[in-house]
Amino acid sequence: MTQRILITGGAGFIGSHLAESFLQRGDAVYILDNESTGTRRNIEHLFSNRQLRFISGSIMDEAVISRLVGTCHYVVHLAAAVGVQYILDNPLESILTNVVGTERVLNACRDFEKPLFLASTSEVYGLQTHAPLKENDYCVLGATSVSRWSYACSKALDEFMALAYHQKQSFPVTIGRFFNTVGPRQSPAYGMVLPRLVDQALQNQPLTVYGDGQQTRTFTHIHDAVQAITLLTDNLQAAGDVYNIGGTEEISIMALAQRVLEITGSSSKIKLIPYSEVFSKNFEDMPRRVPDTGKLRAVTGFSPQCDLNKMIADVVADRKIKLSAGR
Ligand SMILES: NC(=O)c1ccc[n+]([C@@H]2O[C@H](COP(=O)([O-])OP(=O)(O)OC[C@H]3O[C@@H](n4cnc5c(N)ncnc54)[C@H](O)[C@@H]3O)[C@@H](O)[C@H]2O)c1
Repeated sequence: MTQRILITGGAGFIGSHLAESFLQRGDAVYILDNESTGTRRNIEHLFSNRQLRFISGSIMDEAVISRLVGTCHYVVHLAAAVGVQYILDNPLESILTNVVGTERVLNACRDFEKPLFLASTSEVYGLQTHAPLKENDYCVLGATSVSRWSYACSKALDEFMALAYHQKQSFPVTIGRFFNTVGPRQSPAYGMVLPRLVDQALQNQPLTVYGDGQQTRTFTHIHDAVQAITLLTDNLQAAGDVYNIGGTEEISIMALAQRVLEITGSSSKIKLIPYSEVFSKNFEDMPRRVPDTGKLRAVTGFSPQCDLNKMIADVVADRKIKLSAGR
């Protein structure tokens, strides 16, 4: 039987790749997106596929959400206010989208008893410094006066709500916490580090590294992230729990910038910029983010296939095309 899958935020970076993958295996895909940080250009190559429906609209619209959830067999909820810069520029709208919007999606899933995958983030671990991070580790969030924590907080609240719905309302909910997912179609516009560094290298501009550059991250290729989501959504036994979705190679942002220079062959210099000059006076960043993906592996068999050099090379190839098209 053909599955109909609703992807909220499906015109975004992760959603567009997921839609492509579901369509390839024969599912029908409904995408709801308001194109705030995504764009229909990410999915226009799929428009000739009659199994795809694109609905321009918002998860805040209860009538639309209800109709679409009622039509589909499974819901992948990716729509959210995303990106440090976007959150700082649109603080209230971001909180409402991520909390009220998610509640509306959850309510519709409850009404129609439809299973849901919810996208969360490694940002919920906040200022934790130990590694690797396990799903039941403490979330150490900063003060409410530091606006960037609203994203982590809103996603943590989404997780609480989703787990409560799973427990009390008897429909399956699975939560994935993404750690810096990268690849083609990720926009540099809203504070995502890799496409920004790659654009700077390709344009022979200084690569701007924030703070002292010693903060570390692990990156996940979009193809691995799509594989992880697919394994989790195919396995209803995985529901009712939270899973880290991430890669293995921990790297400082300074070393990442150097790697980007090597792979692009750019002669750009690296320039350190204080956070206060880029964001706000009281901006705080996470020092370290390394996932323990043992739970995901035990439940689904997942292991990431793409190393960091491939991730960078794929982003370079994509950004070359976009830059030459003026995007
Ligand atoms: N990419 C990452 O590294 C990463 C890391 C952690 C968590 N996540 C989570 O994964 C999900 C997808 O992120 P992404 O990287 O693809 O970002 P993205 O910005 O490319 O995708 C988000 C999509 O949601 C849409 N959207 C926003 N508000 C909406 C609304 N009210 N109604 C309908 N659509 C709306 C946007 O237009 C966009 O297409 C998000 O929930 C994000 O929090 C991503």
